[in-house]
Amino acid sequence: MTADRTALDRLSPEPPFPSPRPEVESLHAYSAPLEGRRQMLRLDFNENTIGPSPKVVEALRAIPADHIAIYPEYDGLKEAVIANLGLPLQPDQVGLFNGVDAAIHAIFHAYGDRGETLLTTSPTFGYYTPCAQMQGMAIEPIPYEGEAFAFPLERIRNALQSGPRLLLICNPNNPTGTRLAPERILGLAAAAPQTLVVVDELYEAFTGDSVLPLADFSAVPNLLVLRSLAKTAGLAGLRIGFAIGHAAVVDRISRVTGPYDINSFAVTAAFAALSDQAYVDDYVAEVIQARAWMGEQLRAAGVRHHVEGGNYLLIWPKGDPAAVDQALREAGILVRAMSGKPLIDGSLRVSIGTLDQMQRFWAAYQRIEGLAA
Ligand SMILES: Cc1ncc(COP(=O)(O)O)c(C=O)c1O
Repeated sequence: MTADRTALDRLSPEPPFPSPRPEVESLHAYSAPLEGRRQMLRLDFNENTIGPSPKVVEALRAIPADHIAIYPEYDGLKEAVIANLGLPLQPDQVGLFNGVDAAIHAIFHAYGDRGETLLTTSPTFGYYTPCAQMQGMAIEPIPYEGEAFAFPLERIRNALQSGPRLLLICNPNNPTGTRLAPERILGLAAAAPQTLVVVDELYEAFTGDSVLPLADFSAVPNLLVLRSLAKTAGLAGLRIGFAIGHAAVVDRISRVTGPYDINSFAVTAAFAALSDQAYVDDYVAEVIQARAWMGEQLRAAGVRHHVEGGNYLLIWPKGDPAAVDQALREAGILVRAMSGKPLIDGSLRVSIGTLDQMQRFWAAYQRIEGLAA
């Protein structure tokens, strides 16, 4: 028996074997290549590439040992999120989650039922689809339009008329960077009161297109906004994210999470990160500058690329994308191949870090692709 065969048997044992729900049996879990990344220049997960504020590190170091032995306390964290946002929200309008991934999971758990529809765009963030599938939902992915990957507003508007349970909009979209004006999102939500319209604003800091300052959740209670400290504040490893909306919606999605899903380290780090917005603002400004520089280099070198919102861009190598990906890896640089993704198959998604980091990437890329330096 080969090793592969053994692995397969372990995953599909002979009966008797307790059966999971059919949706789970047919599910392909979201998987990401996370191992062995530490020593590399990581431009593959759109993370903060320099780490969190020193205040976060200090606060974590100061945690007394006995805090590890007790369950986490969340007092004041929602208020700190609201103060950081500077918006007139109430604490019960903010849900705390173990990363935005957990918020997405909870949204589907609370709102997505078998046979109902998730309306979304394509290509977009890969975790929405398995969450819909595990609930037995149908998925209606509407493609971005044209060479500029424009948001398919008319088609989404029309599809909303058939009453999908959920609409998920990633703004700016990962991986195309497509931006949608907040007023348009409000218009979509107002026109579809039976649909929960979820706006994943993970990368909003890089565009400033948030719907939050315009949102009146008592008038549009079917709108929910996702925010995270992973990508800008540099807390990806600690897992903390927020869902902001009408208190009733936040309550329903919070009901399907565990009582202590966010750990004490994440809470301490979040307080420190939220109190040092200047650090995040400086990092975001540096990334936006590096994104502009990178775009100029690609344009000047005639490399097909697409850059819009977000701390990432897409590049279509001349050579075999898998070989370029591998050669970059050998040079100590990780990027994310978009192979198999609709519309952008053959591209590499490159996260944007600091100018120094992008210069290092660009030198390696030019060498690998045989471009004149
Ligand atoms: C669009 C989008 N939403 C959500 C997530 C997950 O965020 P978090 O790390 O807060 O779980 C990611 C991470 O890559 C993402 O790109």
